[in-house]
Amino acid sequence: MSAKPIHIVSLPGDGIGPEVCREALRVLERACAHAGRTLDVVELPIGGVALDAGEEALPERTRLAAQQADAVLLGAVGLPKYDGQPGNRRPEKGLLDLRKALGVYANLRPVRAIPALSSLSPLKPEVLAGVDLIVVRELLSDVYFGEPRAIEGERAYNTMSYTRQEVRRVAKIAFELARRRKKHVYSIDKANVLEVSQLWRQTVSELQREQYPDIKLEHQYVDSAAMDLVRSPKKFDVVVTGNLFGDILTDEAAVLAGSIGLLPSASLGDGPGLFEPIHGSAPDIAGKNIANPLGAIGSVASLLDTVGLPEQARAVERAIDSVLAAGHRTRDLGGEVSTDQMGSYVCKALESS
Ligand code: NAD
Ligand code: IPM
Ligand code: MN
Repeated sequence: MSAKPIHIVSLPGDGIGPEVCREALRVLERACAHAGRTLDVVELPIGGVALDAGEEALPERTRLAAQQADAVLLGAVGLPKYDGQPGNRRPEKGLLDLRKALGVYANLRPVRAIPALSSLSPLKPEVLAGVDLIVVRELLSDVYFGEPRAIEGERAYNTMSYTRQEVRRVAKIAFELARRRKKHVYSIDKANVLEVSQLWRQTVSELQREQYPDIKLEHQYVDSAAMDLVRSPKKFDVVVTGNLFGDILTDEAAVLAGSIGLLPSASLGDGPGLFEPIHGSAPDIAGKNIANPLGAIGSVASLLDTVGLPEQARAVERAIDSVLAAGHRTRDLGGEVSTDQMGSYVCKALESS
C-alpha cells in the first residue's frame, strides 16, 4: 500500500509571495515524488489578498485548514495600500494570527555565508568565511502580542511581556539544537534596562544549569550583539532571542548571506509547522518574475524534515547549493536569472542528486 498524500496548505499571500511559493511547491513536489510520495495541496488566501476579497486577514477557513495540514507553506503578506490602516485591518495581522493559531513558538532562521556569494556582501570575505549560525526567535509573545496595547489620542503604548514558561520552551529548542551543533548558545536580551529581559536571562540560565550543563551559554545585550553580527559573526552558532530582537537581528544577518531572498525559516510548535522565507512581499519587485525563490525553496527543505523525509530535505539543500555553485543568479544576486528559471534549475539539480 502506498503512503497517503502529504497534505500541504499553501498560502502564497501578497507581492512576490505567489511567485516564490509557486517555485517552492514545484521543488516540493519533485522531492516528494523521489520518495514515492504525492502531495495534496490546498491553496487559500491570507493577508492583503484576503482583505481585498472582503475577508479577514486570516479567514476562518484558512485557519481551520492550516491547523489540519501536515505542514503550511507561506509566501509573504503585506501591501503598501494597507500601510495606514489600523492593526486589525492589516495583512500582517493575518500572519500573526496564523502563527498563534498554529502555536508555532519557535522560529528557526539559519544563516550561512556561501563563499561563492561573498562578493555580494558589503562585508569582507575574511569576516564572512565560515559563518554558519541559526537564530531561534521566539514567535508568539513579546511586544508583538502583549496586552494592553492601543493608540489613545496623543499617546500610544504596547506591552513587552514574557512568562517563564514562554522563555523556557523556546530556550529548550535552542539548547537541543546546540547539542547537535557546536554546544554553544548565545542568549540575546536587553537585561541592563528591561525587566522582561532580566526574567528572560534568569530563566535561560536556570534551564542551562538544570538540564544542559554540557552546553556553553553566554549572554549578550542586543545592541552589542547587533554590532558583533557584522563585526565578528563567526562567534555565533546558536542564538536564542525574543520576538522583536529576533526579527531585527535576522534581517541584519541576511547581509552575511548576501541577500534576504536566500533566507529560509521554519516555525515550529506542537502541531503543523509553518514554513516561510524571512523576507516580505517586496512590493518594489512584485509581479516581475525577478524575485529570488531560494529562501522559499530552502523553507521547503525544513518542511520535508518535519514530514519525515529528511533525505529529501538534504537533497533540496544540496540542490540549492549546487545551483549557486554553478553561478545561477537572480537579480538580487547580481544576475539575470528569473524566478521561475531559478526554480527550474533547482528541480533539475534535484534530478541529478
Ligand atoms: P521586504 O523583505 O519585502 O523587502 C526588503 C528589500 O529586500 C526590498 O528591496 C526587496 O525587493 C528585497 N527582497 C525581499 N525579498 C526578496 C527576494 N525574495 N528576492 C529579491 N529581493 C528581495 O521588506 P519590506 O520592504 O520592509 O516589507 C514589505 C512588506 O512585506 C511590508 O508590508 C511588510 O510588513 C511585509 N513583510 C512580510 C513578511 C512576511 O510575510 N513574513 C516579512 C517581512 C515583511
Ligand atoms: C517576519 C515579518 C513579520 C514579523 C511581520 C510581517 C509581521 O517581518 O516574518 O520577519 O515581524 O514577524
Ligand atoms: Mn521581519
